Amino acid sequence: MNKFTLAGAAVIAAAAGAYFLTAGTDPAPDTTTPAEGEAIAAVTLPDTLSPEATMGKRAFEAVCAACHGENAAGKQGYGPPLVHRIYEPSHHGDMAFQMAAQRGVRAHHWPFGDMPPQPGVTRAEVATIVAYIRELQRANGIE
Ligand code: HEC
Repeated sequence: MNKFTLAGAAVIAAAAGAYFLTAGTDPAPDTTTPAEGEAIAAVTLPDTLSPEATMGKRAFEAVCAACHGENAAGKQGYGPPLVHRIYEPSHHGDMAFQMAAQRGVRAHHWPFGDMPPQPGVTRAEVATIVAYIRELQRANGIE
């Protein structure tokens, strides 16, 4: 094999790798890239939040917003928007949120690295965070 066929094989391998990384049933993450630390999704806020979601918003802002951004709109370089079709209830049920907080998440949808476990929140607090995220999602047409 000369070096041209080797280079060709490398290109094909890279293309195949890219295909496997992006293929799947999930909607592809947004490809427009905001600047480091900026919001990733445009989030429409609901007119009102239920009392449970209001508590969830407080817990979210204390613990999760550092990476998932204000209003769960994501934060470039840190964490994805949770107001995103990927996280709709049928694809990431409430249990996915409990698991994420308890065990952390291995990077698989986004280029931001792993999410570490979040020992600072209780299960009850995560339940209120889920209520908050679902109300934000519904206000953005994610059911
Ligand atoms: C240190 C940064 C960081 C913090 C703090 C953080 N997350 Fe994450 N989270 C991430 C990253 C990065 C991902 C994306 C992993 C991927 O899919 O590539 C993620 C993914 C998730 C997911 C998707 C899980 C899955 O199964 O794909 C949920 C749900 C989630 N986070 C909820 C939370 C909640 C709730 C909190 C607060 C209690 C929180 N996160 C705090 C960085 C963080």
